[in-house]
Amino acid sequence: MTETVRFTPLKGYREYPADEMGERAREFHEQMQLRRTVRDFSERAIPEGVLERCLLTAGTAPSGANLQPWHFVVVRDAGIKSQIRRAAEEEERVFYQERAPKEWLDALAPLGTDWRKPFLEEAPVLIAVMVQRYGVRPDGVRFKHYYSTESVGLATGLLIAALHNVGLVSLTHTPSPMRFLNRILDRPSSERPLLLLVVGYPKRPDVPVPDIGKKTLEQIATFI
Ligand SMILES: Cc1cc2nc3c(=O)[nH]c(=O)nc-3n(C[C@H](O)[C@H](O)[C@H](O)COP(=O)(O)O)c2cc1C
Repeated sequence: MTETVRFTPLKGYREYPADEMGERAREFHEQMQLRRTVRDFSERAIPEGVLERCLLTAGTAPSGANLQPWHFVVVRDAGIKSQIRRAAEEEERVFYQERAPKEWLDALAPLGTDWRKPFLEEAPVLIAVMVQRYGVRPDGVRFKHYYSTESVGLATGLLIAALHNVGLVSLTHTPSPMRFLNRILDRPSSERPLLLLVVGYPKRPDVPVPDIGKKTLEQIATFI
């Protein structure tokens, strides 16, 4: 039996005059250009309701067949944060000292990162971004999630932009492997951790960040 597709008029669409389009594109780029990955966090708490709204923004992302294969675990509990730090540092120590190929270590060198991850306890919030590899119907039957990694990546991008928009900073952290998050956060094996987003205020407004640049338009785009 085919389900009937229901349609609804597109809500809130606005077309802008060309000059206003240019202005809006410039303003948005200027704002996003200021986003930087921060690795030194203040312990200040995030005001009630802000994170929730940013997560709802993440949830507006497009996804394969609209299956919305994401789950965000928001960790504020100090004990759980310590457990995550311990497990992540264990993995990272092995990574930096044994597993990482020289080429990878060379690529990381300009960032000045090492196995120590104090921000996992200092930041007020850690968000474990989980990919639901498949869905499970109420009768226990599994169904495939299409393009789940791509979809969760897009949702995470929106989340990072939403956090930047409210004056919070974030660090995309990927201790490898990250399976320990399933155990500590008690998540099912149908979910795979994609990354751990560390969120909060910077330790100081002028906290140091690596002096790195972004590619030019010519380098990142081809117009045919
Ligand atoms: C998928 C992904 C994984 C990353 N993993 C880490 C990480 O484990 N540790 C870290 O310090 N930074 C990590 N980063 C942050 C990058 O190093 C950072 O985005 C990059 O250097 C550019 O800096 P910017 O975000 O300030 O523009 C990661 C970023 C991405 C997108």
